[in-house]
Amino acid sequence: MAQSNYVPGLEGVVAAQTRMSKVDGLAGELVIGGFKLETIADKASYEEMVYQLWYGRLPKQAELDAFTAELAGLRALPPAALDLLRTIAHKDLDLMDALRVAAGVLGTEDGAQQSDEWLAKRLLAATPTIVAAAWRLRNGQDPLAPDAKLGHAANYLYMLEGEPPSAARARGLETYLNTVIDHGLNASTFTARVIASTASDFVSAVVGAIGALKGPLHGGAPGPALDMVFEIGEAGRAEEVLRKKLEAGERLMGFGHRVYKVRDPRADVLAKAAREFYEADGDMALYNLVLDVEQVAIRLLEEYKPGRNLQTNVEFYTALLLHGLGFEVPCFTPTFAVGRVGGWLAHCFEQRESRIIRPQSEYTGEEDKPWVEISAR
Ligand code: ACO
Repeated sequence: MAQSNYVPGLEGVVAAQTRMSKVDGLAGELVIGGFKLETIADKASYEEMVYQLWYGRLPKQAELDAFTAELAGLRALPPAALDLLRTIAHKDLDLMDALRVAAGVLGTEDGAQQSDEWLAKRLLAATPTIVAAAWRLRNGQDPLAPDAKLGHAANYLYMLEGEPPSAARARGLETYLNTVIDHGLNASTFTARVIASTASDFVSAVVGAIGALKGPLHGGAPGPALDMVFEIGEAGRAEEVLRKKLEAGERLMGFGHRVYKVRDPRADVLAKAAREFYEADGDMALYNLVLDVEQVAIRLLEEYKPGRNLQTNVEFYTALLLHGLGFEVPCFTPTFAVGRVGGWLAHCFEQRESRIIRPQSEYTGEEDKPWVEISAR
């Protein structure tokens, strides 16, 4: 039999070259668009972060103003998207399903410009509007029109809640969106690149990426991670609860990563951003519980999966920060999408310069089956 070249999960396979981000899984370092994560995440506006990924450099003030204003003008949803969201709204609706459905309508409006750049701006600008509208409809509230005077992150909070957020909350969310904007060839980004590589449109690429992000092994982990912390409730119970989960063969959400074999560098950035919200509203008990649960989880993962180096990933601290910012669990993964869409689109632009992605498969079935008439089966 011929030797197999199959690599399950494409682990270690290099399937793209990119200038968007570098993930060093052994050093625990993340570089986004040439900047170390901790250099840029809590300083750039989300619009600036997107600009530098899409256009390869930080914008000058006039460029940023024009980019920000153009995006703000593209936030409102087409009536068909709003109608769809109203039709599918119910109290248990998964907001990732709502996002997938409504994002597919973008760019279908009469007169919509179909250039890659216009569609990219439309998708980026309207993603938070979709999530906020779906969230409000799910709760029996009317969607709110975007406020063009607010920045991307602040307007998202406004559309969710109906009140302009404090500068500190907008900044906290912006730091989160910047932190998750891009991360090498993760599953959803790869999905977007595969679709863009066929010369298909950017809406299709983003809809595919939303589907990939939804899964609990990728972007769906922070809700279950927070549930796990609440289930534990107090530090003294962490060992008992986590041991029971591991004995039952369950995975601990928010731990383990294909690339990082040390602590995910995004965890520190998010923990730092989260701390001030917990200090401000006095719920340091939850903050400290999360830190304690992390220690116990890492110790038990080494005990149950020795040598696997299962460390904290971004989702564990995403849960802490988004909860601290006042987000409810159903909004966690869609808010990840609000951040990551800038990176998906950056990769789509980059993929346009490359070839169709078309790997091979290894056939493992039979080859000489005889045809059997239906009456004889
Ligand atoms: N808890 C318990 N065991 C784990 C965990 C975990 N969180 N993660 C991996 N393992 C174990 C697996 O059971 C497996 O053990 P085995 O060889 O004895 O069967 C071993 O470690 C290797 O696991 P794989 O699934 O092969 O690792 P892979 O690199 O394919 O998966 C993944 C990475 C999906 C992130 C995994 O670690 C996981 O499921 N984590 C929990 C979900 C999660 O937090 N997802 C968010 C990831 S970050 C992001 O996508 C933004």
